[in-house]
Amino acid sequence: MDSHAYRHRHLLGIEGLTPDDIGYVLDLADGYVDINREAEKKKSLLRGRTLINCFFENSTRTRTSFEVAGKRLGADVINMAVAVSSMRKGETLIDTAMTLNAMHPDVLVVRHPESGAVQLLAEKVDCAVINAGDGSHEHPTQALLDALTIRRRKGKLGGLTVAICGDVLHSRVARSNIALLNAMGARVRVVAPRTLLPAAVEHLGVEVFHDMAEGLRDVDIVMMLRLQQERMHGSFVPSTREYFHFFGLDYDKLKAAKPDALIMHPGPMNRGVEIGSEVADDIDRSLIRQQVEMGVAVRMACLEIMAGNFGNGPPIQ
Ligand code: NCD
Repeated sequence: MDSHAYRHRHLLGIEGLTPDDIGYVLDLADGYVDINREAEKKKSLLRGRTLINCFFENSTRTRTSFEVAGKRLGADVINMAVAVSSMRKGETLIDTAMTLNAMHPDVLVVRHPESGAVQLLAEKVDCAVINAGDGSHEHPTQALLDALTIRRRKGKLGGLTVAICGDVLHSRVARSNIALLNAMGARVRVVAPRTLLPAAVEHLGVEVFHDMAEGLRDVDIVMMLRLQQERMHGSFVPSTREYFHFFGLDYDKLKAAKPDALIMHPGPMNRGVEIGSEVADDIDRSLIRQQVEMGVAVRMACLEIMAGNFGNGPPIQ
């Protein structure tokens, strides 16, 4: 294993990773992008290994992406259906963790509505745990796939200016991206109404803007966030129409950015709320489809690393 290899047991967040850790995952994932474009995509690297997708919160793309990634590497992938799970019968998170642990999985991919829940679960099990999103805390594979998408298109991360716009308050995607982009030497801005920013957000190492024309001025990347109404208790914006008027991305607001600025969104999109359809579907400037493609490659890299580093079986050659 080379000296820059990612040596952590789990992937719980971007916080705490070094630029070498991040670069290592991105380089490995880069190779998987090509493999995924071939007709024959199936590898046997993780044959005999078991991946359990354990989603305590709804997800389509992230769960599917991990499932595709695991299967492409030859692992057995089990999706734990939350709707019929014991959580609905009042079993605690720890009991669920112990039950899953007894089945000897090699990797658990966990999404949970509470910040910190995935870390708690990771402390109780013997296998590697990948955080697929915990509350409004972290979503590390999303930040890694966003970084791979940017790096492949722009050739670098360092020196770029990235504006993360919208519901930063509730967004684990924003937190993980801020940590990653800062670690890799990009400049990060957040652009949002005051009600959708966490207290003391500037301590995260970002420049703060409340106006799209100012916040997008000369940026390389415009990263839009979904308005997470399911996490809002009370009213954070007057109306979605008014929100689009001030903070929704359209060509008019995009004019402030560099002429070759690219548009990103982690999905699922609320069209007409945080992003207009014309910009979302602009094949020259929108990277939204590429983000989904990079997601599978990044998750394959993460699974290879996790199962290989501290999995139950022998090291992967
Ligand atoms: C994000 C998430 O779940 O945090 N989506 C995703 O992983 N595809 C962002 C969001 O839900 O808005």
